[in-house]
Amino acid sequence: MPSKQSTLFAVMYPITLAVASTLPSCPSDIPLSCHNSTAVSNSCCFNSPGGSLLQTQFWDTDPATGPDDSWTIHGLWPDNCDGSYEQFCDKSREYSNITKILKSQDRSDLLDYMSEYWKDINGDDETFWEHEWNKHGTCINTIEPDCYENYEPQIEVGEFFEKVVDLFKGLDTYQALADAGIIPDSSETYTFDEIQSALKKMHGQEVTIICDGDKLNQVYYYYNVKGNAIDGDYKASAAREFSLSDSADGIRR
Ligand SMILES: *[C@@H]1O[C@H](CO)[C@@H](O)[C@H](O)[C@H]1NC(C)=O
Ligand SMILES: *[C@@H]1O[C@H](CO)[C@@H](O)[C@H](O)[C@H]1NC(C)=O
Repeated sequence: MPSKQSTLFAVMYPITLAVASTLPSCPSDIPLSCHNSTAVSNSCCFNSPGGSLLQTQFWDTDPATGPDDSWTIHGLWPDNCDGSYEQFCDKSREYSNITKILKSQDRSDLLDYMSEYWKDINGDDETFWEHEWNKHGTCINTIEPDCYENYEPQIEVGEFFEKVVDLFKGLDTYQALADAGIIPDSSETYTFDEIQSALKKMHGQEVTIICDGDKLNQVYYYYNVKGNAIDGDYKASAAREFSLSDSADGIRR
């Protein structure tokens, strides 16, 4: 028998269970993004129009950013299947407090990792993260608020950053190049084919290799996704262009 005291306690402090904000589980017959032959109406399980997701990375030397033995994160971009892309897709979900959002979601480990590996070339990481979310993250249709059950504002922001970091951790560009004997050295020259072949070995598909003058500066890894951008299966796909060069008017996006 419960005592009177404990009954009273329960009345005074009702326990409210936090209800998790979740994305729906997706049907197994959902097509891989950019691989559908008819229209797909389930927009929370099918990335479209941005069905080509690019995990993009930097090797910055001037100024140098990040650890000496690692590339750094640029972002995760939902490009259209034809290589064009949408940007700044939802003004109402543009934020200038990414650090605060991640802290409020108990993602300090993620934040620590980002502070080391997701570096702004001008030293303002927060602004760079805001830019990547506002410009590209808001265009990922499968993580729009309406897709969530029990949507908690900004939950998709935390999930986006976590996902980008997870993908990046599986794409150790420095190591893949080192395994092929390609070590950063300003007096060494490596061919495009050597670099492409080393990165293809890791990713399974050709990547986009970007130089700034004669210096290797960025790599883009392409994926298609089956399911939503957070829980879905990422399948490597070949880059649309195998090589690009950084220009003043900006491959940097
Ligand atoms: C794939 O699905 C999208 C979203 O419904 C649609 O816009 C596109 O036209 C479809 N592609 C084909 C080839 O049917
Ligand atoms: C971040 O900014 C948004 C928009 O201004 C606000 O609604 C939200 O409460 C802020 N989050 C935190 C954790 O400060």
